[in-house]
Amino acid sequence: MDPSKWIDVTSESFKYSLDHFVIPSHYQKDVSSILIPHGIIMDRIEKLAKLIVEDSKGPLVICCVLKGGHQFFADLVNEIKKCNTVLGQSVPLSLEFIKVRSYHNDVSTGTVTISLTDEECQDWKNKNLLIVEDIIDTGNTMVKLLHKLQEFQPASVRVASLLLKKTPKSNGYVPNYVGFAIPDEFVVGYALDYNEYFRDLDHICIISEHGKEAYAIKN
Ligand code: HPA
Ligand code: MG
Repeated sequence: MDPSKWIDVTSESFKYSLDHFVIPSHYQKDVSSILIPHGIIMDRIEKLAKLIVEDSKGPLVICCVLKGGHQFFADLVNEIKKCNTVLGQSVPLSLEFIKVRSYHNDVSTGTVTISLTDEECQDWKNKNLLIVEDIIDTGNTMVKLLHKLQEFQPASVRVASLLLKKTPKSNGYVPNYVGFAIPDEFVVGYALDYNEYFRDLDHICIISEHGKEAYAIKN
């Protein structure tokens, strides 16, 4: 996607104070600011769904990257279904789930584990896949996943990521659809986690030092 088409929230002015929105009281000390309020996420997904449907020529296999992608996936699929009833074109959908893991605390471990049995993926041959991911950070997970998917000979693979982190650690990978470009900070909420916490927070927030410490995995 052309950078002019995504929403850039990297500037400091996009950080809302915790006083301006409601967040669960158990996370009050664990996030330092709100980066993307839930309502804006939902409005943006409505637009991404429209772009995806306009670009789709045939049936789509929409593939959710678990766990972080589940909320974006659910809301995106809902919006695509709405487009199917109001726009001229209609896209038959099938839904798939894969699990990918690469983070320990806020650090990418460099090893990516993908849970896919080859049998489950055989029927992706000649299909149009849309991979739905919560965030592209270094890009390493997605590049490895795309490489693996080629084994199943899909007709096409496109990637929709809600977030794209602007980080010097990026390998340059840019997805086909991006919701927001975000600053180089660790974000949580809207199913994005830190060691499995914060998935139960609706807004996308920047984690605080207190939060990193409180939910760190200590070895
Ligand atoms: N937050 C949550 N999960 C992530 C992030 C992040 O900033 N980067 C990569 N995975
Ligand atoms: Mg993810």
